[in-house]
Amino acid sequence: MDLTMRPRRLRGSDTLRRMVRETRLDPSSLIYPMFVMDGENKVEGIEALPGQNRYTVDRMGEELERLLDAGVNNVMFFGIPSHKDEVGSGAYDSEGIIQRALRKAKKDYPELYLITDVCMCEYTSHGHCGILCDHYVDNDKTLEYLQKIVLSHVEAGAQMVAPSDMMDGRVRAIREALDKAGHVTTPIMSYAVKYASAFYGPFREAAGSAPSFGDRKSYQMDYHNRLEGIREAQLDVEEGADIIMVKPAMSYLDMVRDVRERVDVPVAAYSVSGEYAMIKAAGAKGWIDEEKVMCESAVSVFRAGASILLTYFAKEIANCIKDGKIG
Ligand code: PBG
Repeated sequence: MDLTMRPRRLRGSDTLRRMVRETRLDPSSLIYPMFVMDGENKVEGIEALPGQNRYTVDRMGEELERLLDAGVNNVMFFGIPSHKDEVGSGAYDSEGIIQRALRKAKKDYPELYLITDVCMCEYTSHGHCGILCDHYVDNDKTLEYLQKIVLSHVEAGAQMVAPSDMMDGRVRAIREALDKAGHVTTPIMSYAVKYASAFYGPFREAAGSAPSFGDRKSYQMDYHNRLEGIREAQLDVEEGADIIMVKPAMSYLDMVRDVRERVDVPVAAYSVSGEYAMIKAAGAKGWIDEEKVMCESAVSVFRAGASILLTYFAKEIANCIKDGKIG
């Protein structure tokens, strides 16, 4: 056969395959989402997320040390308060769960980079991501609360804030509040392209944040839409977002690629709880090779164009990179 190009030539050995690899991974691009809860001396397993726990502030160091040992320095905290009310006041309480976790993590592990999820759904009695007006989440009223929340996070030690509520104009409102308070250097990672997804199921069990009525479709995006996602990303960049996130990751890699091509800021993807749960469940049954599927899905996110991955597998992926299994 007279073939000029034989693509198999570059697949001949492991050394050669590594040489021509197009996607490189590094633990510095991983962010670990971690659940911290009110109370004392407790580590609670999360049934739908095997291997993931909720930690009280006095016990979270155990996990933070394991993360640092694996080479993961970036943590995003989710708070699980013992008290919820109509206006989610626990979210901006200086003695709230997130604020206490931040102060302790900052003091005990200064090498960590502390990011917070900014949302109200874990703190509101109705489980919606904002302030209700009848049964509708009031956009502009919610913005005022988001401003209070980010300020309380940053004052307690958050180094980056990540709003996940999907209210219109929240990036501008948050940027203004931060700048006015002198926090001009604090970056905003916006959950800009966030779909109303059933893949969040296990998270809502973990955080006790399922809405008590209705759903989130009046603020999170309809998953039939692609242009709308690009528009959301562009709007957030105009409003001052430093990093744009796409969420979920696995079924939305087209959006990762689209956003990568249309905005000039770093793109993050969040491999959400349902993605983790599926890999764990099929792995436990022996139906798939858990580690290999985890690696393959992590690489796909970077190949699609993300430079940051939020994942419950952060530690395990970092170890696979270290062992040369990927990267
Ligand atoms: C808060 C928030 C959610 C997730 C991240 N931030 C839940 C939701 O929007 O319902 C989901 C994360 C996951 O499923 O791992 N709004």
